[in-house]
Amino acid sequence: MAEELLLPTSMNKEERYKSLLPQIESLVAGEEDLIANLANIASALKYGMQFFWVGFYLVKDNSLVLGPFQGPIACTRIAKGKGVCGKSWEDKNVLLVPDVDQFPGHIACNSESKSEIVVPLVRDGEVVLVLDVDSDQLNSFDEVDQRYLERLLEMI
Ligand code: SME
Repeated sequence: MAEELLLPTSMNKEERYKSLLPQIESLVAGEEDLIANLANIASALKYGMQFFWVGFYLVKDNSLVLGPFQGPIACTRIAKGKGVCGKSWEDKNVLLVPDVDQFPGHIACNSESKSEIVVPLVRDGEVVLVLDVDSDQLNSFDEVDQRYLERLLEMI
């Protein structure tokens, strides 16, 4: 397992994802424990992509329950249909939120969060977890993030 990520600072966002994903793939290869892998993925994304907050919410007992994350402390449970995460779970869709204040029912775990992307992992037709990434800037996420984060979730 590599001990550090190699990401030249000159890279643009797409180049960073392209460089980071194979590194994450080798980071999780050979480890079968889901929580261990989610923990390393959260760290790799937070520090590799310089995101404000990166974390996973896992579906447990009909709620989303906070899993491995990197960043400020966060809400521990989210009900189906609530907030961006709960809506992504309910709809089984990626949600790109350019301005969290414009998203009805957005759950503000941290007032510095300004934009957000939530990507669900669907297995056998059911959402098993969502990846939530927050930025402290408006309009931080687009189709490039969606494409690479969806690809990343396929590695889990
Ligand atoms: N904003 C999310 C809640 C989770 S935090 O951002 C870490 C939401 O509305 O579902």
